[in-house]
Amino acid sequence: MLLGEHTAARASAPSCDDGSGPIIALRGVGKSFVDAEGRSTIALEPVDIDVRRGEFLCLVGPSGCGKSTILNLVAGLEAPTHGTIAIRGEPVKGPGPDRTVMFQEAALFPWLTVLENVLFPLQVARVAKAEALSRAERYLRMVHLWKFRDARPHELSGGMKQRAALARSLVIEPEILLMDEPFGALDAQTADLLHAELETIWRETRKTVVFVTHNPREAVRLGDRVIVLGTRPGRVKRVVSIDLPRPRDQEQRDVALLAAVLRNELKSEIEKVLREEVDDGWRPAQEPVRPGPDRGLGGGI
Ligand SMILES: Nc1ncnc2c1ncn2[C@@H]1O[C@H](COP(=O)(O)OP(=O)(O)OP(=O)(O)O)[C@@H](O)[C@H]1O
Ligand SMILES: [Mg+2]
Repeated sequence: MLLGEHTAARASAPSCDDGSGPIIALRGVGKSFVDAEGRSTIALEPVDIDVRRGEFLCLVGPSGCGKSTILNLVAGLEAPTHGTIAIRGEPVKGPGPDRTVMFQEAALFPWLTVLENVLFPLQVARVAKAEALSRAERYLRMVHLWKFRDARPHELSGGMKQRAALARSLVIEPEILLMDEPFGALDAQTADLLHAELETIWRETRKTVVFVTHNPREAVRLGDRVIVLGTRPGRVKRVVSIDLPRPRDQEQRDVALLAAVLRNELKSEIEKVLREEVDDGWRPAQEPVRPGPDRGLGGGI
C-alpha cells in the first residue's frame, strides 16, 4: 500500500521501534505573534505531532502555513503560545545541543574558510582542539568537501555551500536535525545529489530529521511520513506514510503518483493564500473566466 494513515488534526508517529515513545512530541502546540500595535496573528492552530526516534519526517504546506514556526518551536528559538513540546519526554525550554537547524541560505561566515566555519560551533561549545579538528574532518569528508576545506564561501557553488552548512549542523552531533527548505534554492540535479547524500548520512548517523519543503516530490523522495499542513492559520491537514523502498528516485512512477496526491491536497490551500494575497480579480487558472453580461467579451467577432 502506498498511502498510509490519513488524519485531519493529529499526526502521531507509528509506534516507536524501541517502544520508548516519540523523541519529539507536540501537544496542542499553537503560536500567535503580536505586533507593535497589539494586533495578533495566529501562525499555527494547536497541533499534535509525534516524531519517532530515527524518523525522517517531512512537512509540506503553502507559504505562511507555519512550517518554519514549527521548526523554530522545536528548536527552542520560539516559545509556543499554547501547548507543550517535549524532547524525549523533557519539556523544551530553549535551544540545546541535541537539535540543530539548517536553513535555505547556508549562512556561512564569509570571512572564515569552510573548515573554520565547521569548527565554529565546536569552539563555542569549548570542544578541545584536537577533538574538534578530527570531528570537522569526519563531517567534511562525509559531505565530500574535505578537499575544499581552505576555500571561502564565495568560492563555493550553492550545492557546496549547503554541504558545508550540513557539515556544520552535523559536527556538534545533534540527535535531531531540523531542516528548513535546505535545498530550495538549488537546481534540480544538485538537489538530487544532495538528497542521496542526506539519505546516506541519515542512515549512517541514525538521526531524527524534520525536513520542511514546498516540493511534494522532494517530500516523497525523502520522507518516512509527510505531514501536509493547511494554512491561514496553519494546521495539520493530512498525514501520509510513504511505504516505498529506498533509495527512491524522484522520477519513479510511485513517487510521482504520491507526489501528485500531495500536490492536489496542497492546491486548494495555495489557492486560498493567493486569494488573500493578490488582487480581488484572481481566480485559479483552470476555472474558466465567464464574461459577465456587462463585459461584452468577444462581441462583434
Ligand atoms: N516573527 C513573526 N512575527 C509576526 N508574524 C510572524 C512571525 N513569524 C511568522 N509569522 C507569521 O506566521 C505565519 C507562519 O509563518 P511561517 O514563517 O512559519 O510560515 P512558512 O510555512 O514557513 O512559510 P514559507 O513557506 O513562506 O517559509 C505567517 O503568516 C507569518 O507571517
Ligand atoms: Mg518558512
